Amino acid sequence: MRGNLILPREIGVATVSTVDSPLVARMREHATSVFAEMSDLARRTESINLGQGFPDTDGPAEIAEVARACIADGRGNQYPPAPGVPELRLAISAHAMRFYGIPVDSDTEVVVTTGASEAIQSALLAFIEHGDEVVMFEPWFDIYAAGISLADGVRMGVPLAGPGLRPDIDALRDAITPSTKVLLINSPHNPTGVVFTRAELEAIAAIAIERNLIVISDEAYEHLWFDDHRHIPIATLPGMWERTVTIGSGGKTFSFTGWKVGWAYGPTNLISAVKVVRQHLSFVSGGPFQYAIAHGLGMPDQYFTEFRHDLSAKRDLLTAGLSELGLGVLPSQGTYFLTTDVRPLGYDDGLAFCRDIAERAHVVAIPHQLLSDDPAVAAPYVRWAFCKRPEVLNEAIARLTSGLHP
Ligand SMILES: Cc1ncc(COP(=O)(O)O)c(C=O)c1O
Repeated sequence: MRGNLILPREIGVATVSTVDSPLVARMREHATSVFAEMSDLARRTESINLGQGFPDTDGPAEIAEVARACIADGRGNQYPPAPGVPELRLAISAHAMRFYGIPVDSDTEVVVTTGASEAIQSALLAFIEHGDEVVMFEPWFDIYAAGISLADGVRMGVPLAGPGLRPDIDALRDAITPSTKVLLINSPHNPTGVVFTRAELEAIAAIAIERNLIVISDEAYEHLWFDDHRHIPIATLPGMWERTVTIGSGGKTFSFTGWKVGWAYGPTNLISAVKVVRQHLSFVSGGPFQYAIAHGLGMPDQYFTEFRHDLSAKRDLLTAGLSELGLGVLPSQGTYFLTTDVRPLGYDDGLAFCRDIAERAHVVAIPHQLLSDDPAVAAPYVRWAFCKRPEVLNEAIARLTSGLHP
């Protein structure tokens, strides 16, 4: 449920009917996922799917080899410990120290989850009482809205503003009420590709401290930042460790999105609460994959640097192609995604644009307005995934060129 104006949500394609459905009322607006809808559209129109964010090449063979060996040797084939195998919790703690200088106690301050997704939902369910407000920037990753509804909370969106889609700190401050309990942030940010600067994070932190908020910081794309837009965990700022749950994703960091190994770390009181919920959701998962992701977290810096360079080259390829077409490209600073403004091509509406290019060019992208409560602000923007092989990106650009400028 959202806090201010309730807007009818325009879902363009295949919706699930909730008439006569036993689905609880608070989940009805989440009956369909934008990613499933747009993937259906891609299948129906035989499109290249630049909508859903997963790489079309697997991560390092040596990580896959660890998983394979674990399965063969019987390591992790039975229920692993509920908070995660000690090897992975130690690796998460060592990784936090190595990259960010954060000391994390692997016994009390870490929990392994079924992807970053379960860490996010467990944290929301752990902290939100009926009617508590969660403030977040929009557009958002769609599971945030569903998670807040599951927890029976109220979502309050603060649009990323201006031509660069940056956090509007005054609007954020104005959105906080006495009922606000959690600030949910995400940087590097999906879908915009924005990476929050130190100054932006400091301003957000100051509000969280002043208003005594818990911060859930979704850092699934922590290693996917480009150029000099280095990712800074908000938990490293003064006064923030004690109020922040930091969330990571083995799937995003190592290009094994199907394995769904994620984690949360933070102070013991917050992580203990997350653990209580999480043990009653999936309880445990992915035993052999946990050992494999532990191996990945210990890989040399070269892996992380080359991964970023490889993705930033793909970003450059898609940026050049979409700019050439006449779209307004917002430079992507991180994630798998870049955002374009469709107005230079004569469209006002990203959803109409996406439907059009699926039919005319056989390429699918995601309109921001399906990831936002404020369609007026989000309408001109469309998200494109560039985590695909160069030949796929080139083919998409060629199709768009002949489809849009025949
Ligand atoms: C911002 C963000 N957070 C979390 C996730 C989920 O990560 P995982 O696959 O590890 O559950 C995604 C996946 O797309 C994402 O984009």
